[in-house]
Amino acid sequence: MIRPMTTRKRILSRLHNASFCPKIMVLFLVIIIFIRLPSQSASKPPVIAKNGMVATSESFASRIGVNILKKGGNAVDAAVAIGFALAVTHPAAGNLGGGGFMMIRLQNGETTCIDYRERAPSAASKNVYLSSSGSVVPEASTRGYRASGVPGTVAGLCFALKKFGRLSLWEVIQPAIDLAEKGFPVSDHLSQSLKDSAKLLQAFPESARIYLREGKYFEPGETFVSKDLAWSLKVIRDQGLAGFYHGPIAQKIAQEYKAHGSWITQEDLSSYEPVIRVPLQGSYREYGVITVPPPSSGGIVLLEMLNILERYNLSELGAGSSQTIHFMVEAMRRSFRDRCELMGDPDFVEIPVRKLISKQYAESLRSSIQPEKASATTALPSRTQSGAEKDQTTHYSIVDNTGNAVANTYTLNGSYGSGVTVAGTGILMNNEMDDFTAKVGMPNADGLIQGESNGIDAGKRPLSSMTPTFLTKDGKLFLVIGSPGGPTIINTVLQVILNLIDFNFTIQEAIDAPRVHHQWLPDQLKVEIHGFARDVTVALRSLGHHVVADGYMGDAEGILLDPKDHFLKGASDPRGDGLTVGY
Ligand code: DON
Repeated sequence: MIRPMTTRKRILSRLHNASFCPKIMVLFLVIIIFIRLPSQSASKPPVIAKNGMVATSESFASRIGVNILKKGGNAVDAAVAIGFALAVTHPAAGNLGGGGFMMIRLQNGETTCIDYRERAPSAASKNVYLSSSGSVVPEASTRGYRASGVPGTVAGLCFALKKFGRLSLWEVIQPAIDLAEKGFPVSDHLSQSLKDSAKLLQAFPESARIYLREGKYFEPGETFVSKDLAWSLKVIRDQGLAGFYHGPIAQKIAQEYKAHGSWITQEDLSSYEPVIRVPLQGSYREYGVITVPPPSSGGIVLLEMLNILERYNLSELGAGSSQTIHFMVEAMRRSFRDRCELMGDPDFVEIPVRKLISKQYAESLRSSIQPEKASATTALPSRTQSGAEKDQTTHYSIVDNTGNAVANTYTLNGSYGSGVTVAGTGILMNNEMDDFTAKVGMPNADGLIQGESNGIDAGKRPLSSMTPTFLTKDGKLFLVIGSPGGPTIINTVLQVILNLIDFNFTIQEAIDAPRVHHQWLPDQLKVEIHGFARDVTVALRSLGHHVVADGYMGDAEGILLDPKDHFLKGASDPRGDGLTVGY
């Protein structure tokens, strides 16, 4: 990726080009030596604050979050406020009609994962996306009414607030209502994102009316108002989650899904419940890792990769070197194979989690890695799209002034989900059913080849890759991190962690640094376009890796609590449109 010249480089180049008098030259040199300038590879220094911090993928949401912290709300209050706000300002991924995972670490060290992943409707079953000849019906699980699972976001946010928040639902949801009702200026990013998804949104009248203004696309600076979404948010404000799952919103969803011959019923909605799960715990070098459990594969895969990589001296091999990438990719290949073959909703399938995240198991995987040669996996065609990172899924990280932390990743799955907006609600519905295995051996929209363990069943949650994660150092919070990006999420989180721990990058540098991705099948090593020097990709090819240049991966939002000076240091990913705000 192309980075602006750092301050240090700019000063050095001025010294080189200008004919300064010797005294000024000496002064400049003293400044360069004694003042710590931002280091080489960061696009900018991290945001630094003492009290609290919020890093999200959209600026209005970040400001709302930090205002909640300033007025005495805790990290969970801010997380819930942000969750509702992003549904308005970042409609591609922020949502009421999707689901996700909220990881919470309280200042006393207690950790929880709220699983508010969507569930398959009760009418869904194993072969629902197959034609009579047994082939996968194109777009059946990605587009339109049949692509949606029963949404979990409102239940998850309301549960989090009730159990861990300090403020009322009214206080945390009102900022989102104001944004929806009074409107907010459309950013370049939102304007472009809506245009990019016009084909999908056009196909559904309510989406075309609200998000495309019937073809009069929103241009940057214009005001986006959504009265329908404001109505839904007010129903939730006044009636709580009952308004969504039992009351007027549930009625509208169930009626419309029925009218379109689809399956989300009033009963599916009223029986939806989030699940409180125990986060996975592991370690990487001298850091504790607290991460998301199944039905996300993210935590297991992350821990498997970290356990494998721990035995290599990566800092000596160097960031971005072909040897470091080779070992990373071999770890990715092995851990993603386990994802595809073994994982699914733990309420339906048994996953050998303890074994998979053990150091012993990692050792057995590592023993098959050759330093000089890529391992083989069968090559299969990929359906993954190249190009810039799309607005699919969104992650935010929060730390409050007492040290409570939240890592929340939630999504509609694809950008703008299924494309369906339920009439009268402004609510875009997810296409999360595509995360299931429609047919063993066939790739989903993320190119993932998945197994029986992730097959479709009534009430089941599809396997996810979302990876909201905390790191600790000496038992104290060190890092809050996560990203969107489908399967690349797990590898993005991995690479940010390695950049911090092995390469001693700042949080901004760790997030900025170019990324690679391998997911076992197809056997492709994707590298961010412009990210790596040619001799690195040549060296990787000579080891036997099938290197493919790809678009940007992920949109990581991270906050680090620096154990040295106790400042919060945060960064938003330059690949996205995020903002980190501290106070
Ligand atoms: O849960 C998952 O893994 C996916 N539904 C996430 C989708 C996603 O991140 C899309 N972004 N590129």
